[in-house]
Amino acid sequence: MARLNEHYGKLAAGYLFPEIGRRVAAYQKDHPDARIIKLGIGDVVLPLAPAVCDAMRSAVDEMGTEAGFHGYGPEQGYDFLREAIAKHDFAACGVDVSASEIFVSDGSKCDSGNVTEIFAADARVAVPDPVYPVYVDTNVMAGRTGTVDARGRYAGLLYLEGNASNGFCPEPPKEAVDVAYLCFPNNPTGAVASRAQLEAWVAWARKTGAILLFDAAYEAYISDPAIPHSIYEIAGARECAIEFRSFSKTAGFTGIRCAYVVVPDALEGKLGDKTVQVRNLWNRRHTTKFNGVSYPVQRAAEAVFTERGRREIRERIDYYMANAKIIREGLTKLGLDVFGGVNAPYVWVKTPKGIDSWGFFDRLLDGAKVVGTPGAGFGACGEGYLRLSAFGKRDNVEEAVRRIGTTL
Ligand code: MLT
Repeated sequence: MARLNEHYGKLAAGYLFPEIGRRVAAYQKDHPDARIIKLGIGDVVLPLAPAVCDAMRSAVDEMGTEAGFHGYGPEQGYDFLREAIAKHDFAACGVDVSASEIFVSDGSKCDSGNVTEIFAADARVAVPDPVYPVYVDTNVMAGRTGTVDARGRYAGLLYLEGNASNGFCPEPPKEAVDVAYLCFPNNPTGAVASRAQLEAWVAWARKTGAILLFDAAYEAYISDPAIPHSIYEIAGARECAIEFRSFSKTAGFTGIRCAYVVVPDALEGKLGDKTVQVRNLWNRRHTTKFNGVSYPVQRAAEAVFTERGRREIRERIDYYMANAKIIREGLTKLGLDVFGGVNAPYVWVKTPKGIDSWGFFDRLLDGAKVVGTPGAGFGACGEGYLRLSAFGKRDNVEEAVRRIGTTL
C-alpha cells in the first residue's frame, strides 16, 4: 500500500468547524423542532453588495463576447485589481505597498496554510494561543511538530500565551524563531494590537531575523482610529512581514472567494548560503500551484473599492458591528465577562461558574439553542471561553442574547 504523510496522523482531532457542524447536525436530528441560532463559524449572512453583483454580472456578460473573453489570467491577479488594492487599501492610509507586491488568491485560509511551504522544513514556528487553528494544523501537516500533548499542544511549536491579563495580545518571545503568526483584529478573541505593541513585534522580528505572518482579515472592522490596519503602518515592517488580507469578511466574499497576500520586495530570507527575496519563492509557489482567481470575481473585488462599493460595504460592516455591540452589552448585563466585539466581529466570553468550553457549548446548544465556538478549540489558553460571532441576522442575534439570559 502507498505510504501516506505520517504527519497527518499527529493531528489531534478533525478541523474545528466541521466538528462543530457535526455536533450541531446530530443535535438537530435528535431535536427536529429546535430553532437553532448559529453564531459559531464566522460566516457572513447579508447578501452581496449590489455594486459587487453588478460588476460580476457585467464581467460574466463580457466573458460571453468574442472581444471580452478571458482565459487564464495572470496567476498573481489582474493589474486592475492589484492596482486598486495598492491605491485604496494602502496608499490611501499612507502605506507603501506596490501592486507588484500583491498576490491575489482564493482565500486567506489557503494563503496562511500555503505559506508554510516556503519556509525550511525544520523552521521554528511561534503561534499565539488561542489561535486560528489553520496556523497550527498546517504546520503539523508540514512536519514541523512532534506529537500532541494532553492540552492539545504540539511539541516543537512555540506557543505565545494570550490571556485576560495581557489583553490576549502576547509579547514577542525571548527566544528566536523563524516565523511568528499574528492576527489582528484577532480571531478568536476580538483583541486588537496597539501601534506600540506592533512596533515591539516589528523591532523584535528585525532584531532576531524572524518573519511575521500578519493576518489582517478583519481589519475592516477596526473603528478606533489609533489602531493600525496594516503591519506596514509600522516603520521597518516591509523588511520583516508578510500580510494576509481577505474580501471574505470585508465584503461578504466567503462564498465567492477572493483574498490577497502582500510580500514586500524588501523582505529577505536565507536559502542555503544565499540571501534571497522571499517574494521570489512565493511567486514561484503561486505560479506553479495556482491559476488565478476568476475574472468575474476579480472584477467584483475591484467594485469593492468604488465609491458606491465602499458605501454599501460600510453599511454591512456597521450592521455586523451593531450586532457585536448587542452581544457584548447583552452578555455583560447578564453578568458575563466579555472581551472583543469593539474593533472585531467576535465576542470572546468567559464561561460562567468555571464550566469548561465544550460544557458551555453544550449548555448553550441544549438550553438556548444557540451555537458558539468553544474557546478550547482554539488552543489550551482558549479553555474556559466561548466565541460568539457577530455575523448573524439582527433578529437572531437579539433572540440569541435573550435565550442565553434564560439559560445561565
Ligand atoms: C472562523 O469562524 O474562525 C472563520 O470563519 C474561519 C475562516 O475564516 O476560515
